Amino acid sequence: MTVAVYPGSFDPVTYGHLDIVERASRVFDRLIVAVLINRSKTPLFTVEERVALLKEATKHLANVEVDSFTGLLVEYMRRRGARAIVKGLRAVTDFEYEMQMALINKNLDPSIETFFMMTSKEYSFLSSSIVKEVARYGGRVDDLVPPCVVEALRRRFADPGGPIEF
Ligand code: PNS
Repeated sequence: MTVAVYPGSFDPVTYGHLDIVERASRVFDRLIVAVLINRSKTPLFTVEERVALLKEATKHLANVEVDSFTGLLVEYMRRRGARAIVKGLRAVTDFEYEMQMALINKNLDPSIETFFMMTSKEYSFLSSSIVKEVARYGGRVDDLVPPCVVEALRRRFADPGGPIEF
């Protein structure tokens, strides 16, 4: 059984991420979408909120699990018995950073392979940051993120300290 991990910040999950999740879930036996608990960034959504949104958005995919991790990705993967990392590439601008991460992970654990998937062309411009920027100023994002995220963004910007139940 091939277990793959799709790691990221997912702040919040977009249709670009979900495109990768759906396609990777057809290639690997099991896919773990792993949200990084990163204390050095100030995210819009807490890790618990990001995990909840990802669970809602991937609930139709039986072999997809959503989890969170802290520390090194390769150590998390060792604990989970995973050997494959899945990453999405949107454009050549992603390449240098992604190659650096793939090579450092290979250096840390030579048994781990990174698999890159090209994001579908309709999402090649999409990022969590751009979605937050548009939503912050009241722009329409319903074709960029799933309905639960549209609602979560609306609530977060309407009441920054409030809950985002959906
Ligand atoms: O969505 P992002 O922020 O581009 O994802 C980056 C992520 C989470 C994949 C990367 O920062 C990561 O794997 N962090 C865990 C710490 C680690 O293992 N660092 C060494 C390899 S970069």
